[in-house]
Amino acid sequence: MLVMLALIGGLLDVIGIVSLLPLLQVAMGEVDENAMTRAAVQMMATLGIPTEFKSMALLIVAIFLAKGTFVFAHSFWTIHTITTVRKNIQTRLTKRIGDASFTFYTEQDTGHVINVLTNETRRFASALKVFGQVLVGLIYIIIYVPTILALQFDLALTLVVATLAVFVAVRPLIERTRLLSISASAQNSALASELIQFVHAIPYLKATATLSNLRRHVRGRVKEVARLDLRMGLRTAILGGFKEPVAVAVLILYILVEVEIGGGSLASVAVVALLLYRLLNQTLGLPASFQRINQLTGSITFVVDFTRDVTDAAEPNGPNLIESIDSDINFSNVSFSRGEQNILRNITLTIPRHQTIGIVGESGAGKTTFFNLLTGLLDPNDGAITIADQDYRELDRQSLRRLIGYVPQDPVIINDTIANNISLYACPPNDPDCRAQVDSAAAAANCESFLQITPSGLNTMVGDRGMRLSGGQRQRIAI
Ligand SMILES: Nc1ncnc2c1ncn2[C@@H]1O[C@H](COP(=O)(O)OP(=O)(O)OP(=O)(O)O)[C@@H](O)[C@H]1O
Ligand SMILES: [Mg+2]
Repeated sequence: MLVMLALIGGLLDVIGIVSLLPLLQVAMGEVDENAMTRAAVQMMATLGIPTEFKSMALLIVAIFLAKGTFVFAHSFWTIHTITTVRKNIQTRLTKRIGDASFTFYTEQDTGHVINVLTNETRRFASALKVFGQVLVGLIYIIIYVPTILALQFDLALTLVVATLAVFVAVRPLIERTRLLSISASAQNSALASELIQFVHAIPYLKATATLSNLRRHVRGRVKEVARLDLRMGLRTAILGGFKEPVAVAVLILYILVEVEIGGGSLASVAVVALLLYRLLNQTLGLPASFQRINQLTGSITFVVDFTRDVTDAAEPNGPNLIESIDSDINFSNVSFSRGEQNILRNITLTIPRHQTIGIVGESGAGKTTFFNLLTGLLDPNDGAITIADQDYRELDRQSLRRLIGYVPQDPVIINDTIANNISLYACPPNDPDCRAQVDSAAAAANCESFLQITPSGLNTMVGDRGMRLSGGQRQRIAI
């Protein structure tokens, strides 16, 4: 669609400009019968337009109005494509992050994930815009070069050679940008990560008078990101700035040569000059577009790599749905290791139904790891976990997890109301039955005493990571 719109826009542009030829000749009273003039006059005759100034002028205005419409359609389509691509990447990546294994999750850095999902995805989508610009540039060249060839063969040939020379000259500038861009994306991820940790740590760092140490660290990263952006921006600016002077210089040279050698009519010189200027704008704009693409290489690499990694890390799942836990849970010879480190070795135990058991062990002994195996977040390297003789690996994990209530060591608190933290968004808004369940859950976990002193009871906002609650209150909400 984009190619078609650009192609039609480009064709209308050339037709419009070439139609100026007979118009100018009529206005100046010149007669010059070259191929293009004949073609333009022929076109007007076919359309039934008389070769007089007013009708021709009206036709040209109409052609450029039509071209304007296609340019609008092209721009709108481009922005539509970019926003759709961004939306799709963000939706898919968010889903795949949720579907990825626990191990993948623990290996990720929040700053990197956030950076990929926001900054790099936006830049990835904007790279498509630049690809679109290159495409339009190439289409214009394909349309303009034959037109100028028909009018001035030598000139077109000289231009092709000159453009190639420009490309060779600016190549080192562009190549270097690709490397800078990859560093810039990495630095952006590191910055996002440091900023998240910095913001989280502020109260503690303040209390211990260590805030300035971390601030210095973050400031260093901010400077590095700015330095890389500036270096890339400088290259883009150089390429963007040299376009117009070179185009005008070539144009003046052309007019000088035409005036010295003579030959062509004033009207055809003016029309070729206009075509030439348009063409040079496109061709000389290409190195800047390639530069922009290279500037975005880091983002493209980051988004593509992250998408591949997160997709490869999809959590395995079994086919069998489980409706209820009606039997014991058995661990038989379960071992779990991470690399060289054996965390759990040959664990064999039965967790009987309707009984309370405790797992005791020193710090780092593997208790949380054991619970991660029990919820199916981790899979044993050896041995098997079974419920009613069904191996965990055969179970649909989602159906198993629906039967598990879990209060983690570090309570997970979302920056929302106390009610939403208790229901974890299971309640539809204004559902009185669900709300009554939340009320009784809050009462069962002894939340009532502190709910009374909060400003809006269950509707109180808890702050980022539950910062407006005490540690014990956070734990009660988690329960
Ligand atoms: N994602 C991980 N990657 C690598 N090693 C890990 C990871 N999570 C835990 N470990 C290591 O596995 C071992 C067991 O950790 P685990 O969290 O199960 O201990 P724990 O018994 O719950 O300890 P605590 O009582 O301190 O909570 C520890 O040595 C820990 O360093
Ligand atoms: Mg633990």
